[in-house]
Amino acid sequence: MTENATQLDDAIADVDVYSDPEQYHALFATLRKNEPVRWTQPSKYRPFWAVTKHADISEVQRKPAIFLSAPRTQLNTIEAEDKIRAVTGRNQVQRTVISTDGEEHAALRGIAQSWFLPQSVRKLEDDITQIARQFVDQMVELGGRCDFSQDIAVWYPLRVILRIFGLSDAPDAEKILLRMSKQINGAFDPDVQRSTSQGEHMLTVVNELFEFFRPIVEERRRNPKNDLASVIANATMNGAPLSDLDVFSWYLSISVAGHDTTSAATAGGLLALLQHPGEMAKLRAKPELIRTSMDEMVRWTHPVKHFFRTAAQDYELRGQKIREGDSLLMCYPSACRDEDVFTDPFEFRVDRSPNQHIGFGIGPHVCLGQYLAKLEMSIFYRELLSRIPDIQLDGEAVQSRTLFMGGLKRLPIRYSVQREYAHAS
Ligand code: HEM
Repeated sequence: MTENATQLDDAIADVDVYSDPEQYHALFATLRKNEPVRWTQPSKYRPFWAVTKHADISEVQRKPAIFLSAPRTQLNTIEAEDKIRAVTGRNQVQRTVISTDGEEHAALRGIAQSWFLPQSVRKLEDDITQIARQFVDQMVELGGRCDFSQDIAVWYPLRVILRIFGLSDAPDAEKILLRMSKQINGAFDPDVQRSTSQGEHMLTVVNELFEFFRPIVEERRRNPKNDLASVIANATMNGAPLSDLDVFSWYLSISVAGHDTTSAATAGGLLALLQHPGEMAKLRAKPELIRTSMDEMVRWTHPVKHFFRTAAQDYELRGQKIREGDSLLMCYPSACRDEDVFTDPFEFRVDRSPNQHIGFGIGPHVCLGQYLAKLEMSIFYRELLSRIPDIQLDGEAVQSRTLFMGGLKRLPIRYSVQREYAHAS
């Protein structure tokens, strides 16, 4: 391989590149143009095809019998993959719905699916509004200055998800889950990493999370309640109770996937509005656009950076011969800027329509929480924009260091506090 090719391959899996949207968007734009399905061999990772076009990622995700979700789900170093396999016998410490296929996937997903259908999440509107108001109140209390990411955006979706889960009253749940969910996607972030070995880091964090869940699961098995935590703790599959690993992994998926992603889109969405004052003005003038602008915020921030699929048979994708056993990295940030799908993809437009982004994925694994995420974000923005009349950037916005899932970790803002902007309760 030439030196340039090695550099390019390393960049595709480089956390420094992913910490800077300008850099990774430039990289993906080049790949989309020159090599949309590229065989990639980064130094520290097992090789894969980097798939960067919207159409190709959609094709892969829509053929789940050919492109399997197991065994490789996310970009872990060779060191981490080997260590995790040696300790657990699996590719991941957890065994979540996202890493299963076929009937097993349908059965696992079916356990929680009804809780996240549009008609179910709509019933939560009053509860979510109450939580959103608590956080806008908190911004008012903070007196006109805050780190929107640290003070508001990381907490809000967590409180919502704990309410649905039925864990609002679990002692210290908010604090512990916030810390752990930052850590789980932060193996390369010195602010939160538990070990410089990614394998050690993942084993420590996931096992600690499982230990946190253990007494809650035991309690829900003894005294089931009308909440999602009880449904999962007491679920059966093919007539047998779900294994502890599956139960803990479900708890982990809901509390991490349902939290980090939505807080990244909420904070990143605000940064986009601050950087595009015309769009902020449009949204303030036409609050009916808030609903549709949530899709633009997800397209713009693409909180999930990738998932993998593994080919179960040979297949030709955009002229490249994919071999059975090859894995494919689906680059969502790239799909979300694909020139063949979006007019002016590098423009942030709150009224973009149509908006066929695949920031929530597509096909049988499409995000289970997409309606919830959009509902909670739109409720929050409705409350925020009606009560805080002007918001400005107050320092540097900082991205978290992750290859997998996340967004801004700091967003300093200042704003006028006008207590008379009462909410319409
Ligand atoms: C803006 C917020 C969110 C984004 C961008 C996002 C993105 C994604 C993506 C890209 C996938 C993979 C889809 C695929 O492989 O086809 C996914 C799956 C999933 N998401 Fe989300 N998500 C968000 C919010 C949520 C929320 C609030 C929940 C709440 C529970 C959630 C739960 C899940 C679950 C359980 C899966 C796995 C589904 C399966 O494998 O069948 N997500 N999400």
